[in-house]
Amino acid sequence: MPDLNSAIIAPEDSIISELDEMRPNGPVANLSRNQRYLIIERAFVGLYRWYVARSQATRNWLPDKSFDWRNFRKDHSPELNRILEGFFAVEQYVPDYVTALLKVIRQSYGRSHFHLRWGSEEEKHADLWRNAVLFSGQRSLAWVEEYGATLRGQEWQLPWDDPLHMIMYTVFQERATQLNYVNLGLAAKGESPAPDLANDADPVLAECCKHIAMDEAAHYNFFLEGARLFMYYFPEDSLQAMVDVLRHFAMPAGKLIPNYDKLAEILHRCSIFGPRQHNKDVVKAALGQLGAESLKSVEDGIRRSREVPDENGTTIRTSIFETLNFDFIENKVVRLFDRIRDYEAEIGLDEVAPTHFFPSPELRAFKAGSV
Ligand SMILES: [Fe+2]
Ligand SMILES: [Fe+2]
Repeated sequence: MPDLNSAIIAPEDSIISELDEMRPNGPVANLSRNQRYLIIERAFVGLYRWYVARSQATRNWLPDKSFDWRNFRKDHSPELNRILEGFFAVEQYVPDYVTALLKVIRQSYGRSHFHLRWGSEEEKHADLWRNAVLFSGQRSLAWVEEYGATLRGQEWQLPWDDPLHMIMYTVFQERATQLNYVNLGLAAKGESPAPDLANDADPVLAECCKHIAMDEAAHYNFFLEGARLFMYYFPEDSLQAMVDVLRHFAMPAGKLIPNYDKLAEILHRCSIFGPRQHNKDVVKAALGQLGAESLKSVEDGIRRSREVPDENGTTIRTSIFETLNFDFIENKVVRLFDRIRDYEAEIGLDEVAPTHFFPSPELRAFKAGSV
């Protein structure tokens, strides 16, 4: 697997000038791999700048001051209290989540700067769940400190060590995290279908879940847009990475948290998160947003795209484009570039550093019938 960031770091002058001369609206040109890397990097920078402005304007909450902690319920069910502790534990590894991935993507301006911003939002989540555990009245400060020290006694490791696999991983991971918080929010509003959480309505917890789930939705969207860029400009590498990630997917820190199996059982029993949510609300939903129908259809497509010559000596190369909805992906990518263009026009960046969309050469070739 090539390092899909390597060419983003310092593109040669010739690539920059070639790309800048190939203004959109002209004839569809072939794009070299390096030119595609540069287009993706520019889109990441534009999306990151847009994201920061939006994050500051719409999700600038504080884990201490945005919630009425004194009125947090102190008589929640044992199940709900275990869930709070579980979420606290998962978000405890923020320093590792930031440093480990930052080393992998540090050479991309757009991705690494976004990652710092992302880390600052995840850090608030850790503080929020720490407050929730303390204000639940079930655990002392000493317990929280000792548990935190136990958790941090081990370091979280990246599930994948390359930028492409990691962006695919984060798409599914953020979606799963969002779902966990949305479903806990239902319990906090007294709307959980789980009998164990029937008496856990709590307006303060509901506010917590609302804010944190909005953050996770924003994270999911950023990574989804990024994954679609790779899918659009490097479809074969991206599809393979997506399949690899889905075959081995596990939530972060599951191996580090003591008694994680018990937590997983409670999350499942309480309709917060289990195999059904994972398959339907995470994998199927995210695959749909990546232009794929199912993991099986993608695996079939990859297998077929690698077929060797048949008995007549004719090479059959059933294109992966047939298993993916690339019109959908292109439409979404174009809309992302539109959003970046509007943002840059608002600032005036369009006059000094405009970001342009370029069509994917593979898709154009496929549509022309030459793949
Ligand atoms: Fe989070
Ligand atoms: Fe997140």
